[in-house]
Amino acid sequence: MAILMATTSSTLGSKREPATATAVGTRRKRPFLLDLYSTAVGKKYVMAISGIAMMGFVLFHMIGNLKMYQGAEALNHYAEFLKKLLYPLAPKGVVLWILRGGLITMLLLHLHAAWSLTRLNRFARAVKYQGPRDYQVAKFASRTMRWTGIIVLAYLVWHLLDFTFGTVNAVGTDGTFVRGEVYENVVRSLDRPVVAAFYVLANVLLGIHLFHGAWSIFQSLGWNNPRFNTWRRGFATGFATIVVVGNVSFPIAVIAGIVK
Ligand code: HEM
Repeated sequence: MAILMATTSSTLGSKREPATATAVGTRRKRPFLLDLYSTAVGKKYVMAISGIAMMGFVLFHMIGNLKMYQGAEALNHYAEFLKKLLYPLAPKGVVLWILRGGLITMLLLHLHAAWSLTRLNRFARAVKYQGPRDYQVAKFASRTMRWTGIIVLAYLVWHLLDFTFGTVNAVGTDGTFVRGEVYENVVRSLDRPVVAAFYVLANVLLGIHLFHGAWSIFQSLGWNNPRFNTWRRGFATGFATIVVVGNVSFPIAVIAGIVK
């Protein structure tokens, strides 16, 4: 009894210490979303949500580019339409810039989350995968994502210099880059076989990245019941195939003279 009373009074009398270092100091004052982002689960959520937003972009970008098959007027008109979104309610170009801002934010979040998840995995894998096979599969997938991601990023930089700024698209068959002549700029660039081959290769790598990404989204968001695996695989395969087939068709159509 004496021992019990002594223990109880010493417990009540002393202040409770925080259980972990993470509960101490500045961490507790951080906004909820930043606190969540400091965890692996939070980073995976950011990876998945920014990935979904960019998947939406690549899908709609590909669908929009199909206008190429309707001719120069249709594609150039579509590019002009994007600039005039919600015009005259909003000034010309404003909505497009808001969308671009959102896309850039998603890309930066995706890159940061990927970088910090890689660091977390490298330095703090407390729980090993169950077996050597699981380990090999996970390692192969994450390595593939890293390399295809880096190459797609390099492709994106080239692509913007090619079709948006025109800096690498000045040696076409009949002249130089002209702002607003979207169709003609695409044909001038993809008419070069090396560039066309590069577009095909980069878009196939994008497809591999999209396949793994679309598959992983469900895992990252915690919807990974094995019962849905067939559905998940179908979705990932279907999505990646549609985007790749559409995108790869453009350089092939230009080289084949279907789009000229
Ligand atoms: C062969 C496939 C593709 C073609 C023919 C194509 C075509 C184009 C064209 C013509 C533009 C300029 C549009 C304008 O100035 O109005 C453009 C912009 C852009 N493309 Fe692509 N694209 C392709 C694939 C991709 C892919 C796979 C990505 C992403 C990984 C991508 C990301 C972008 C971005 C971010 C812009 C800038 C959009 C803007 O400034 O509003 N494109 N693309």
